[in-house]
Amino acid sequence: MKATAKAHTNIALIKYWGKRNESLILPMNNSLSLTLDGFYTTTSVEFREHLLEDHFLLNDHVVAGDEYYRVTRFLDLIRDFSSKPNLYAEVNSINKVPTAAGFASSASGFAALAAAATKALDLSVSNQELSRLTRQGSGSACRSIYGGFVEWEQGKQDDGSDSHAVQVAPANHWDVRVAAVVLSSKMKKVSSRDGMKRTVDTSPFYTSWVETIPNDLDQIKQGITDRDFEKVGRIAESNCLKMHATTLGAEPPFTYWHDTTLAVMHMVRDLRASGVPAYFTIDAGPNVKVLYLPENEETVQNTLRDVPGVTDVILSRSGQGVTYI
Ligand code: PMV
Repeated sequence: MKATAKAHTNIALIKYWGKRNESLILPMNNSLSLTLDGFYTTTSVEFREHLLEDHFLLNDHVVAGDEYYRVTRFLDLIRDFSSKPNLYAEVNSINKVPTAAGFASSASGFAALAAAATKALDLSVSNQELSRLTRQGSGSACRSIYGGFVEWEQGKQDDGSDSHAVQVAPANHWDVRVAAVVLSSKMKKVSSRDGMKRTVDTSPFYTSWVETIPNDLDQIKQGITDRDFEKVGRIAESNCLKMHATTLGAEPPFTYWHDTTLAVMHMVRDLRASGVPAYFTIDAGPNVKVLYLPENEETVQNTLRDVPGVTDVILSRSGQGVTYI
């Protein structure tokens, strides 16, 4: 009753921002991401008859508190699914997602946990079922089941039975790369969960944001099929700006950006003005991710490193979906 799985994190090009059901984690809109090979989590799960509760080790340290409860609550779902309510597990996770890079390790973390736990119990789940289960651990994690370009279909059902990810194009379809620009920031973080809820509940810009999604999705998927970098980058950048605009209209208002975030955004636009195609996107934090093509790797990396306040630039290619070890 033991299995090990590896999953990569992903970066959203069309953002998931807002839930229609908080407990089932059902989104207000479809989203689309690129799975990244540079950042991943490897998780072993072993269910054992004599255990009285779950144990969770992260990077060889015992985890307690909220982080522990998120994991046990998620394992409860898998126990329900397998009709083994009293079977507890030892969970051992190694995270290769530098938290400083501003990637939520929850995406790769919950995808690896779901895959390892279902495998350990010998449950025959399709990738679609696995994606639906993973969604209930962390929304964006449901996209990490698949490699390459991935769409999370919000679904129509109230029970979430049709809210899961599908692959749009595999990792080898197109060598698009992502630079994670790490900034030194001491700003207090608004979690993605709190940030989404506040904008859905209070921002007058929220409904307009949702209305723009179908067109952004159509266009970006066409751009991916055609390997049209300018189109994909342009849509990703404007979709990110629209998401962040909703936070300024919230009550109380907030922003994830700080001065270096803006400096990097301007630098990316300067790069474009000088003839180097590069586009930015930003999640629920101050760090910036920059999309670029392989031939511009050196220029992009060196330019971003020179922005005052940037502490590191970590490069990644597109990555595979969940694998079992
Ligand atoms: O799944 P969460 O709660 O980590 O939310 C992710 C929200 C964004 O990163 C801002 C957008 C996205 O689609 O990943």
